Amino acid sequence: MVNGSYREGGVTDQLIALVIEQLDSGGAETEVINLRDYPLEFCLNCRECMQLPGSAPGKCVLDDGMAALVERIEAADAYILAAPTNFGSVSALFKRFMERLAVYGYWPWGQPAPKFRKAGGVAKKALLISSSAAPGLIGRWLYASGKQLRTAAKTIGAKPVGLLFSGMSSQQAQPRLSPRTISAASSMVHKLLSR
Ligand SMILES: Cc1cc2nc3c(=O)[nH]c(=O)nc-3n(C[C@H](O)[C@H](O)[C@H](O)COP(=O)(O)O)c2cc1C
Repeated sequence: MVNGSYREGGVTDQLIALVIEQLDSGGAETEVINLRDYPLEFCLNCRECMQLPGSAPGKCVLDDGMAALVERIEAADAYILAAPTNFGSVSALFKRFMERLAVYGYWPWGQPAPKFRKAGGVAKKALLISSSAAPGLIGRWLYASGKQLRTAAKTIGAKPVGLLFSGMSSQQAQPRLSPRTISAASSMVHKLLSR
């Protein structure tokens, strides 16, 4: 699970905790990377990582937590990608992580556009999570966050089983998940666990 929320105990953290509980009882082993505590630099757009062909991720020139994170991504069977909607898109924290997924692209100099290294491979599953102050139905249609989370999943070779979107989540200082969101979470986790 990659968590792009800034806030400890906020909506994203609560959704992740709920999903962990359900995955645990389904027998899955889980690991959360909270990007707010994780050492990642911004992508330099040097494209060194994109020059050599192959389905394995390229090597980034930056010496931070990304190489270890890519190893965890490669080892995982499924993913939860989570980011709140800020100014209509995923959080900057998640976007910084997404841009570092450049290692999953093959884009040598002279080629007009990148290719996804994992395209055509066996797709793993991904559950996507976002939230907004706006009602869920509006948020999922209006904002770019859902599409961006889908792009992140596709980049690492995963196919989304669904977007869990918690709307109206900014009315209280300590937001609580609605019964509807809790029930949607359990059906999506079921899809994630089923073969
Ligand atoms: C800087 C900032 C920008 C936001 N932009 C939007 C927005 O464009 N639309 C919206 O509906 N909610 C917006 N929100 C509300 C957040 O999406 C919402 O509070 C979210 O649930 C926060 O997730 P968290 O509890 O994990 O921190 C914004 C919140 C902040 C702090």
